[in-house]
Amino acid sequence: MSSKVEFLYLQQEDCIKAGGLDMAGCMKATERSFFLHGKKAFIQPGKPVIRWGGPETEETTGRIMSMPSYLGGQEYEEELKERDLLGPVNTSGIKWIPSKPHNPSKYNLPRANAVITIVDPDTLMPVCIMDGTVVSAMRTGAASGVAAKYLANPDSKVMGLVGASVQGKTQAMAIKAGVPSLEVLKVFDINRATSEKFVEEMKDQLGMELVVVDSAEEAFRGSDVISTATMAKEPYVKAEWYKEGALHCEISFWDTPAEALKIMDKVVVDDWYQVSHHGVDVSYRAVRDGVISEDKILGNMGDIVVGNIPGRQSKSERIFFNPIGMGIHDLSEAFRVYENAKEMGIGRKLPLWENPALV
Ligand SMILES: NC(=O)c1ccc[n+]([C@@H]2O[C@H](COP(=O)([O-])OP(=O)(O)OC[C@H]3O[C@@H](n4cnc5c(N)ncnc54)[C@H](O)[C@@H]3O)[C@@H](O)[C@H]2O)c1
Repeated sequence: MSSKVEFLYLQQEDCIKAGGLDMAGCMKATERSFFLHGKKAFIQPGKPVIRWGGPETEETTGRIMSMPSYLGGQEYEEELKERDLLGPVNTSGIKWIPSKPHNPSKYNLPRANAVITIVDPDTLMPVCIMDGTVVSAMRTGAASGVAAKYLANPDSKVMGLVGASVQGKTQAMAIKAGVPSLEVLKVFDINRATSEKFVEEMKDQLGMELVVVDSAEEAFRGSDVISTATMAKEPYVKAEWYKEGALHCEISFWDTPAEALKIMDKVVVDDWYQVSHHGVDVSYRAVRDGVISEDKILGNMGDIVVGNIPGRQSKSERIFFNPIGMGIHDLSEAFRVYENAKEMGIGRKLPLWENPALV
């Protein structure tokens, strides 16, 4: 019997051919992983992080995270089908994701890059090794998109976006997908050329009127849904900027001061254990420093998706969604892209070995 092991290698272009930029598909994969999180059908250890200083150095010298996870779900196949979500995953994988803040300006490279490995559930040998950069950006957008679907007022018209680079683009794509009533997107980036590039690239695909604004305050004021996706090193958001009923998805770490969370009626995270373990999200720092009480943390998004806890309960609530990013989202979305690639015959088969040595 042959002991040869091969895996499918997907470079970024292959991932895109296999539907990597299909936000509707990614939203289903991401909602699936929220659902399975709510059902506790997952394993997700705290992320090991390599960084060369305290938490704030992630925005200066950078960091590397590795995010292993297992996603189950066979027993929820019927329920997933009823909800029109994708089928179960029942396997494990890991995303390795370095971030170097100077890459865009110094090398014209993205800040973050990622590699994802998925294993065969029976042998635990690798079945796919892929670029994870697109998967990672898309699932981060989709997490906010799913949160917006459940937590934004359904008649929301105006979105504000602060930070218009890689993550800003997927935030806008996904939040519009989650809240189709949005009509206008106000964009602010500290680098105006980045906002202008955003508008140029996204104007034909977002289905919203795109307006470049001159300050974060302008992006916030009057907005029903806000996303902050920056590399800000210190807080600039003011509590008085929030409209009643606003949803703020903060995926970056230092934009909103802990004090501003006092105005929120509810704070929702993706996984409170992960948020506390990493220790950089403002929701965690606000509780740690006694600025808000832990009661204000309503819970994890997966519990809202499953229906274990209610999400928005009135039109006027201000809600803050603050995800740290979960490996199970990467795995769920990577698995979707991998399955598509197999079906479409995309990618290259590479051997791990012809015959294993030392066996
Ligand atoms: N929570 C998650 O799951 C998750 C996942 C991926 C990325 N992120 C975070 O998203 C953020 C953005 O990532 P990216 O890949 O787009 O980074 P990037 O470096 O490509 O872009 C950051 C953008 O922020 C802008 N910016 C910096 N300071 C600003 C300020 N004070 N006001 C307005 N704009 C400002 C920059 O000009 C730049 O365009 C990072 O903090 C990253 O860690 C979070």
